[in-house]
Amino acid sequence: MSAAREMPEPALLPPDAPARARLSLSGISCIYGGFTAVDQLNLDIVPGEFVSLLGPSGCGKTTTLRMIAGFVRPTAGTISMDGAIISAPGAVLAPERRQMSMIFQSYAIWPNMTVAENVAFGLKLRRLGREDVRVKVATMLDTVRLGKLADRYPAELSGGQQQRVALARAMVIQPRVLLLDEPLSNLDANLREEMRFEIRRLHDTFKFTTVYVTHDQGEAMVTSDRIAVMNAGKIEQIDPPYLLYTRPRTRFVAGFIGRTNLMEGECGGTEVRFDGFALPRVMFAEGETAQQGRVTFSVRPQSIGLRHNPSEAGRAQCTTPGRLLERAFLGETWDYVVAPEGSGLRLKVATLPFQVFEVGDPVWLEFDPAQMAAIGKGE
Ligand SMILES: Nc1ncnc2c1ncn2[C@@H]1O[C@H](COP(=O)(O)OP(=O)(O)OP(=O)(O)O)[C@@H](O)[C@H]1O
Ligand SMILES: [Mg+2]
Repeated sequence: MSAAREMPEPALLPPDAPARARLSLSGISCIYGGFTAVDQLNLDIVPGEFVSLLGPSGCGKTTTLRMIAGFVRPTAGTISMDGAIISAPGAVLAPERRQMSMIFQSYAIWPNMTVAENVAFGLKLRRLGREDVRVKVATMLDTVRLGKLADRYPAELSGGQQQRVALARAMVIQPRVLLLDEPLSNLDANLREEMRFEIRRLHDTFKFTTVYVTHDQGEAMVTSDRIAVMNAGKIEQIDPPYLLYTRPRTRFVAGFIGRTNLMEGECGGTEVRFDGFALPRVMFAEGETAQQGRVTFSVRPQSIGLRHNPSEAGRAQCTTPGRLLERAFLGETWDYVVAPEGSGLRLKVATLPFQVFEVGDPVWLEFDPAQMAAIGKGE
């Protein structure tokens, strides 16, 4: 990693720059030795937007965040904030001059300071007056629901409370960009789930431009305006959570966000032919079957219906017979594996708990083409 060198004076941000920054990463790469950790990545974040970087371990999330913060110099590309370049291969504006706050993957709050002292620290560094600091700290502690614990030390707090101190400390200085790297990874599952909503609530309150790194899709779904799914140093797709889930555009995204079935279809004439059955092309969402020839579709397990009998006439053209091969009861759902008749497909189907089928049962599968997403040319 090359040491960050400060940019010359003219690139400094004006003191009256707007509070919530626009961020733009343009063709950003980071190569460690011969290994490309981040690969020509483009990302535009509008002021006040909450964007998650979501992806498996080692895909380059932390490296991207550290480049935004100014700790890592890009090998290629530029990062600009409100139009001013803050990172380029030749020069990097020092982290402390970016007016950003970052919570690191293994966040730490100072054990020898009380909650209030932890939160006040950044404000004192900025030489704010005593009374100003007191009011800002008190307001922030109330916002993160720690008002009554201001005089406690970190060792006297639960994991979730410590997490909120870290958030309060990052937010109290009114950063132009808030960067969070897996901030909930030290918490147990229940608390993690609670804190996701807390983080979104705080975002709705303050609307800081936020980049949030996580490998947990549920966390990204709850907190984000848009999610950027990363794989091997690149963004594969960036969309709001609903679109990402319902209209994944690559195999990787379809499999990473929730569970899915990938089905090869042949688009031609009025039909899309799958292995063993066909569905009417007009029933697919607009644009999904625009391509001719082989196309791969992502079909969510819960978008396939199961019945003991063929369905009524209206749905008949989307219904095909099959046999139930496997089942598992998960409480909230049944997970079935079903083989359509005359097909090599093995489809995952999820139903509500009271829709009970036995292994070996003949069943009818009911597809909803409107819920099928084309993720590209079939192979
Ligand atoms: N300082 C470094 N020197 C060499 N390689 C590095 C360095 N930092 C990270 N890498 C490599 O770059 C890749 C991306 O690392 P990064 O920390 O960005 O991943 P990540 O997506 O944050 O993963 P995780 O979810 O495990 O935190 C990894 O393969 C990692 O081993
Ligand atoms: Mg990381």
